[in-house]
Parts: sequence; C-alpha cells; structure tokens
Amino acid sequence: MEKDVLILAIESSCDETAAAVVKNGREVLSNVIFSQIDLHTVYGGVVPEIASRKHIDKINQVIEEALQKAEVTLEQLSAIAVTYGPGLVGALLVGVSAAKAIAFATGLPLIGVHHIEGHISANYIANPTLKPPFVCLVVSGGHTHLVSVKDYGEYEILGRTRDDAAGEAFDKVARAIGLGYPGGPKIDKISKEGNAQAIHFPRAKVGDGEYDFSFSGLKSAVLNYLNGCQMKGEEINTADVAASFQQAVIDVLVGHSMDAIEKYNLDKFAIAGGVASNVSLRNAFEEACAKKGVEFFLPPPVLCTDNAAMIGAAAYYEYIKGVRHGYDLNAVPNLKLGERL
Ligand code: KG4
Ligand code: ZN
Repeated sequence: MEKDVLILAIESSCDETAAAVVKNGREVLSNVIFSQIDLHTVYGGVVPEIASRKHIDKINQVIEEALQKAEVTLEQLSAIAVTYGPGLVGALLVGVSAAKAIAFATGLPLIGVHHIEGHISANYIANPTLKPPFVCLVVSGGHTHLVSVKDYGEYEILGRTRDDAAGEAFDKVARAIGLGYPGGPKIDKISKEGNAQAIHFPRAKVGDGEYDFSFSGLKSAVLNYLNGCQMKGEEINTADVAASFQQAVIDVLVGHSMDAIEKYNLDKFAIAGGVASNVSLRNAFEEACAKKGVEFFLPPPVLCTDNAAMIGAAAYYEYIKGVRHGYDLNAVPNLKLGERL
C-alpha cells in the first residue's frame, strides 16, 4: 500500500493566519485559524499593513500548533503547501516566506496553491465522494466566480463579477446600515428578523456575459433607498433592508448557477468561499438543486471562510500530479485561476 501523503498547509492571503495538516487531501488532522478580525473592525475593513504585521507575529505559533494538534513531526510530512495568490501582497509574503523556510530547512517539496482553488477544494474534505467534473460557485470577499471544475486543478470560469464581489457587497451594505465589519455574518443574523420581500432591490443582468454578476448597482440601490428614507424622515427597518438585500444577492447567485447547470447539463453543484456560510444562501441552493435533481455539495461554515485545510486539500492533487515550486516562489497578488507561475 502507498504511504499516506501528509501535507502541512499555510494560508495568510488576507486577515486569517492559518495552518493545517491534511492527510491524502481529504482528512483534516488539524486546522488552526488565528482570525485578525478584531484588529481590523475598528477601521471598518482589513488594513493591509496591520494584517502583514500580525501574520508575522502569529505564523510560527500557528504552524507549531497545527503540527502539535495533528501529532505529526516535520520528518513525517510529505510536502509544504502555501497560498501564493491572489490576496494582499504583504500578507501572502509572510506565508510564502515561512513555507519556503520550512521547505529549505527540511528538504521537503514546496507547493504553491491558488487561494480560490483552495476554496473549491474545501468541498473535497467535506464530501469524500465528490470528484470532478462539477460546477462550483465561489463567493468570497474578493471573488465571485462560477467555475466549471473539469478535473483536479483544471478550471474554466463560466462567469465572474464585473464589479464588487458578493462578500464585498455584504460588507458595504452592512456598513451603510450601521452593522459594522465584517458585514456578511451580521447581515446573515439580522436578516432572520426581517422580511425579505419588504423592499424590492434590483437583480442585475449583465448584457453579454451570460453568467457574469454585478453587485455595485444593488449596493447603490440600497444606499439610495436609505437616503430616500432619511430625506422623507421615515424610519429605517434595518432587518428588512438586510433581508431584502440578501434575498436580491441570493436570487442572482441561484439564478445564474441554475442556468449554467441546465445549459451544461450537469448533475453536481458545489458552493465555496466565505459567503457560502450564509444560512439563507445554503438553504436556497439546497432547495433549488433538489428541485432540479442536482446533487448539492457544500463545506461546513468553518471550511467556507479562509482556512489552511482547504489549501492542503488542493495541494494534495497538485502533489500527486508532480507539481513542485522552487525557492523562488513569490507572492502573486493577482494570480489567475488555472495559471501556474
Ligand atoms: O472566503 P473569505 O473568508 O475571504 C476571502 O477570500 O475573501 O470571505 C470573506 C467574506 C467577507 O466579505 C464576509 O463578509 C463574507 O465572506 N461572509 C459572509 C458570511 N460569512 C462571511 N457573507 C454572508 N453571510 C455570511 N454568513
Ligand atoms: Zn478566501
């Protein structure tokens, strides 16, 4: 029998310092996440400089904890994996430097991973039977991609946002209605007390790109609505605004995804990324997929938001394909999905 593949994975592309040990791409032995959210909340968003500094502060501790929790020593590892893009360059550099140092010191292979590929691969951990091909909707703070996963590591982007990412829209609207940062989880929570049909916000159609998204118009519509209320001296029902906004986002995401499933005649669909932890969105997709007879996959919330276990899962399939990076691996803030540098 082949030896188990144990990968130590590191993720530091935004405001989570994370490390994990993953066995054979599917089994999480440890998944340590240090979230910096509290540090950035006072500024209403992630401050890149502060993120980089905190990553430096925490990275060694998080890596050590991941090894300890997994009860794995460096000698037992098969490879070191790290997110090298896309993300904040100063933040990425911390993880990349740590991974390179460990790889150099131990002689272990180094594997650079695309952050979005990591998000998609969170589904392999959560669903041991899931294999490509399938379609995955990746909805995070920086990305909104409808991706056809043709094989492990092989992607075709069917649609993407033309402006704001879905998570970005959640964060901006949350700020406008006074909920603070990060907005997604707060809108998710308060929406449960609101009426999603109370206000009709637009569901944007993007002319030529059949599966492309646009959320900036929706965000403006919410801001206009708030201004209008203020001018008329009308009280704003925050829960209704949140629920109605959230419903508009969900309708567009579900609508485009179902159209793609139909056109490409697919039978498997997955979601990933921070916004995929949204309860109403998860329910809406569950229902829509059941109606269409499509098998629906979704990671648990802790594997939707940034973590290193998903990077370890993605790295496994690169590892068995023989992908290796040199010590010249660098952070690539705008790395494209499917691109290998
Ligand atoms: O995947 P992620 O942790 O980081 C990026 O790669 O961007 O996603 C973070 C985004 C933020 O915009 C956050 O507001 C949003 O995901 N988010 C949510 C929820 N939890 C996090 N959006 C809606 N509902 C949630 N429950
Ligand atoms: Zn992410």
